[in-house]
Amino acid sequence: MIKDSIKNLGLSATLKINEKSKLIVNQGKNIIKFGFGQSPFPVPKTVVEELKNNAHEKSYLPIQGLEKLRISIANYESKKKKYSFHQDQVIIGPGTKELMFLMQLAFDGEIILPAPSWVSYMPQSIIAKNNYHWIQTKAENNWFPKSHEIEEIILKNKKKKFILFINSPNNPSGQVCKNLKEISEIIKKHNILVLSDEIYSELTFDTKYESLFEYCSDDVIISNGLSKWCGAGGWRLGYFIIPKKKVELLKSIKVLASETFSAVSSPIQYAAISAFEGNHTNYIKKSKKILKSIGDYVYRNLRSNKIIMNKPMGGFYLLPEFLNKNFDTSSNLCDEILEKLNIALLPGSDFGFLENKLIARLSFTDFDGENFMKKINLDNDITYEDIKNYAPKIVEGVNKLKSWVEN
Ligand SMILES: Cc1ncc(COP(=O)(O)O)c(C=O)c1O
Repeated sequence: MIKDSIKNLGLSATLKINEKSKLIVNQGKNIIKFGFGQSPFPVPKTVVEELKNNAHEKSYLPIQGLEKLRISIANYESKKKKYSFHQDQVIIGPGTKELMFLMQLAFDGEIILPAPSWVSYMPQSIIAKNNYHWIQTKAENNWFPKSHEIEEIILKNKKKKFILFINSPNNPSGQVCKNLKEISEIIKKHNILVLSDEIYSELTFDTKYESLFEYCSDDVIISNGLSKWCGAGGWRLGYFIIPKKKVELLKSIKVLASETFSAVSSPIQYAAISAFEGNHTNYIKKSKKILKSIGDYVYRNLRSNKIIMNKPMGGFYLLPEFLNKNFDTSSNLCDEILEKLNIALLPGSDFGFLENKLIARLSFTDFDGENFMKKINLDNDITYEDIKNYAPKIVEGVNKLKSWVEN
């Protein structure tokens, strides 16, 4: 009764680990949740107030999204990118995940995915019946592809159209792409499309955020939303900005939206205006300061000659590789860590790495972000004592992993 292509799919990896962790907690065990990656911070108060103020909004909104919200998003992105977007280029969806899925449904071509990539791009390709190509990237290039690796795929299938997914700062690596310009040359040369997943852009730690859009604006779909920087994953609001020259794609996504979710929840859309128009500088600065300190803490304390990883540059993840462990797959490695240490991690294979590469995603968000935010100020450094006090499970998890690896 179920299609083979669907029958063979499991639950999305990140949601599955969340459910598995809850089961273990229900058994009375203390689990360290390094598996699921959700913002630990509360939604800014002013945005929550706007949601309350708009709870009475009950009508269906336009399929493409509330015009006032689209204007505020166009202005927000125009300021960030020093460009001039029009609200008609913006489409609002119930999270970017759904918009990506509709894009894959509409697109007639093939998908290029750097390994590692976010867990849902590839299953969405399978559901939408799009061929996909993995590029195994290297830590030396911050886990992003080199332009010649992208070109090799294009040259093998010259007649096809392609979409390349680039997500920087990246989930799962926590790295920022340093060779965007080089990648953009190939994009322009072969006239391919890019989905620039910028969901962690506001959480770039040190460097100024750079988007592929700056190098090839006609070929880049910008994807962003409220889920990460605004702590509002459960509100389900995301958007695409689609280049004017790709208006056909926008039209098709809109048709698919009209036949599926109709429009995003009205109160959420009204409230989201204040997320894009309000001044949330302090909130974002504090979020980044906390995430950067915790990321640095994990990096400094876990890294050794037995576990290697790159220093986090944005978002809330890092990718430890276990050099002295002997497992057939990263999945077996993570099962053992969950069973022995009660620490949930996600196997690298969920992100497209070869199964025998003993690498895992560690999400450093298992702490009370609201409390941590209250306790620090922007003028003082975050100390080890702060981390011990306000993120004790991070310290516990790192210590447990460290002694497991040493023995
Ligand atoms: C890289 C990446 N892209 C997209 C998403 C989807 O975000 P949403 O559907 O909440 O907009 C996530 C969420 O985990 C993510 O990590």
